[in-house]
Amino acid sequence: MNDGDGTHTGQERRFGPLGTALVIIPTYNEAENIKAIVGRVRKAVPEAHVLVADDNSPDGTGKLADELAVEDDHVQVLHRKGKEGLGAAYLAGFHWGLEHGYGVLVEMDADGSHQPEELPRLLTALKNADLVLGSRWVPGGRVVNWPKSREFISRGGSLYSRVALDLPLRDITGGYRAFRRETLEGLGLDDVASQGYCFQVDLARRAVKAGYHVVEVPITFVERELGDSKMSRDILVEALWRVTTWGVGERVGRITARGKRAQP
Ligand code: GDD
Ligand code: MN
Repeated sequence: MNDGDGTHTGQERRFGPLGTALVIIPTYNEAENIKAIVGRVRKAVPEAHVLVADDNSPDGTGKLADELAVEDDHVQVLHRKGKEGLGAAYLAGFHWGLEHGYGVLVEMDADGSHQPEELPRLLTALKNADLVLGSRWVPGGRVVNWPKSREFISRGGSLYSRVALDLPLRDITGGYRAFRRETLEGLGLDDVASQGYCFQVDLARRAVKAGYHVVEVPITFVERELGDSKMSRDILVEALWRVTTWGVGERVGRITARGKRAQP
């Protein structure tokens, strides 16, 4: 959908073949969910590998993941020292996946909200894209069992990001995504500071600004039945101030550039 000014775009572009996919699942206290989600991924996309990125969950999620890894050579576990946020866990997972040569890196929640059975559709779309976003807010996309309050925050967050950052996307905060490795390599991950859910906005923004071809595919997001959401006031506040800062920064940048051009 992003056919902006960038150098990476163009429908006529030929995309290279997709390599092996690594599905990265960040976890913090997902003991009730981890075995089911890994099992579903393995069944839905048997050729893909799974990396669980656990922040030393007090409920023993990491240990359960280790048990899965012992039984299955397509499952790996990245043990991190403590809770550092979704963004940091994904960055560590991406680095691990790039180092190990995977061609596609997938983001997926552990709680079943992102249905592994929909992953083949995301991967098919990635054949002709640099980045695929699973989207709740395009035609065909929907949410199941989400409280109205959560839907309001999520829709509001996407709308605010869309306008503040001038992004041609509908679901900017979603966390079900598939990246080509070259896309991640081109995003400049070293200076990503976002910790919470605004990490998702940050990556979408970087991809569009870099001119990558970003495609939204409708998904059905199913609210978790077990365990708790880690959404907090701090996560919301971080998202709001970061998106606002990026938006203001871009506008100031544009005005300054225009000013410079206007000078004799
Ligand atoms: N390793 C690690 N560290 N994992 C974490 C952390 C953390 O600090 N915080 C959350 N996670 C994991 C959870 O265990 C889960 O697998 C996934 O990240 C998503 O967390 P949830 O707490 O289930 O998120 P949500 O349902 O409230 O939010 C969903 O919607 C957001 C808004 O659209 C997610 O899809 C977010 O990615 C999305 O931004
Ligand atoms: Mn969730």
